[in-house]
Amino acid sequence: MTDTQLPAIITSANVTKHYNQTYALAGVDLTIGLGESLAIMGPSGSGKTTLLHCLAGIIRPDEGAIRLLPTDRSARADVTSLKESGRTALRREVFGFVFQQGLLLPELSAVDNVALAAMLAGMKRPDASEHARAWLQRLGLAEHLHKRIGQLSGGQAQRVAIARAQVTQPVVTFADEPTGALDSTTSTEVLSELLASTTGRGSTLVVVTHDETVAARCSRIVRLADGRIVSDSANQAQQAPAQFVQNTEFAQNNR
Ligand SMILES: Nc1ncnc2c1ncn2[C@@H]1O[C@H](COP(=O)(O)OP(=O)(O)OP(=O)(O)O)[C@@H](O)[C@H]1O
Ligand SMILES: [Mg+2]
Repeated sequence: MTDTQLPAIITSANVTKHYNQTYALAGVDLTIGLGESLAIMGPSGSGKTTLLHCLAGIIRPDEGAIRLLPTDRSARADVTSLKESGRTALRREVFGFVFQQGLLLPELSAVDNVALAAMLAGMKRPDASEHARAWLQRLGLAEHLHKRIGQLSGGQAQRVAIARAQVTQPVVTFADEPTGALDSTTSTEVLSELLASTTGRGSTLVVVTHDETVAARCSRIVRLADGRIVSDSANQAQQAPAQFVQNTEFAQNNR
């Protein structure tokens, strides 16, 4: 169990990562709950992105273990010792990613960007296109399905990134400064959509942010300094409603 009494979905034990003489992570122990929204905060260079990338199997730590615990939609996995092919499959099928820039393919339309992610996770093209359209419509982009990414505003592009991350109904969504380039109104809207499509459906959101207003809307805030966790606090006002935590029916019906 996690601090918030949710069932655990990811555990990290004594995770370290160094680059030359610099310790980006100096021993991180963290248990993340299913249905939790976890904000990772800390000064620039404190190891936030490195931790997110280790948890998500993008980079391998030097030491320590990261485990994905089993759910009704994903098997147990030892993220740190999986081969590259296994980590790629996890990233495509079990995890979702929303980053500040990148990941979206500028030459493809909004709907094709989202459908491609679904196809990479194993969905057939007609299903992938249908799910992509449904997600973009849900996120208010019905008018923009066929625009290329470069023809969208920053907020619209971030909604496409959310649709792209959510079309596979990931168990855990990792976001690194997802609202960092947006004005405050758009940031609030995009975060609401990100929370609704993750914790609102019983899955987990791990979000790196410098923005206290973003963190205040998450159910838990972990602060890093020099590669270590220096505080870990539950945000009682933002706990995931209990009925959503076990609710994976939507996810199963929409795969
Ligand atoms: N590929 C790399 N090569 C060398 N050093 C790196 C590399 N990636 C990260 N570092 C170093 O590791 C430390 C942690 O970096 P990280 O990117 O995790 O910080 P951060 O908390 O995400 O910072 P920011 O808020 O600026 O994004 C920094 O000192 C950084 O310079
Ligand atoms: Mg960073």
